[in-house]
Amino acid sequence: MTDTYHIPAQLLANANRVVVFTGAGVSAESGIPTFRGRLSGLWERFEPSQLATPDAFMADPELVWGWYEWRRTLVCNAKPNAAHIAIAELAARVPRLTVVTQNVDDLHERAGSAGVLHLHGSLNAPRCFDCGASFPDAAMKPQEPDAGRRLAPPRCQHCSGMIRPGVVWFGESLPEQVFARAFEEASQCDLLLSIGTSGLVQPAAQIPALALAAGASVVHINPENVESRMQNAYNLTGAAGEVMPELLRRAFSGSP
Ligand code: OAD
Repeated sequence: MTDTYHIPAQLLANANRVVVFTGAGVSAESGIPTFRGRLSGLWERFEPSQLATPDAFMADPELVWGWYEWRRTLVCNAKPNAAHIAIAELAARVPRLTVVTQNVDDLHERAGSAGVLHLHGSLNAPRCFDCGASFPDAAMKPQEPDAGRRLAPPRCQHCSGMIRPGVVWFGESLPEQVFARAFEEASQCDLLLSIGTSGLVQPAAQIPALALAAGASVVHINPENVESRMQNAYNLTGAAGEVMPELLRRAFSGSP
């Protein structure tokens, strides 16, 4: 039987510039549901992508605010898992590491990663829907919606507009500078680890392909096999919280 870790571990041990590109799957073992997995309980009848648009917010602000406050409650009560921790530890093992995430939680930071590039914004940065002013109570404890799911968004102190989550919705542009830096890092790295993403949402999904096209190797870490016909693409099939510590162990065992 071939050892699927052998090549990825060698690539990691020899890499100078590494990009870790994460999606919702990296937080799944912390208890945060992915976007395209089955939701449980309160929200199982809702399609997350249908709540994540400016039009959905305009049509039913209380439903959308309630959904994001529910997610923020989950994140506040969650802890970084073994994958977040291994990614944070990797920074001390390779000459240059950049973490690029599609996630709007802060679990990478709470595990110890610094300078994380958040392509899709943050749950902790709400702002006014109308004037864009940031909302000063961003760090406040989230309010969980009741069984009716709805929760009225707070109002802006400047213009009384509705406060919206600080995340990028479908149909909106990604934060330009963050995106430009992520593209630059991906196009200059030797190795990109793509962890827990379905690769379905553009333009973020271009990042692994960009790294491959620029000559880097890409390792997909996901319980589902990720299709790739490219020679330099590898799969480590499994949960990120199991695969990442094992990958680090294989890459760096023997080093101090
Ligand atoms: P998805 O929900 O589309 O995909 C999650 C991926 O994680 C799937 O490929 C799962 O197989 C995988 N997965 C599940 N459990 C895992 C585990 N324990 N370890 C590793 N992988 C696991 O989430 P994203 O790809 O992040 O956008 O979705 C991309 C974007 O779509 C999100 O950032 C969000 C959403 O709409 C915005 O909010 C703008």
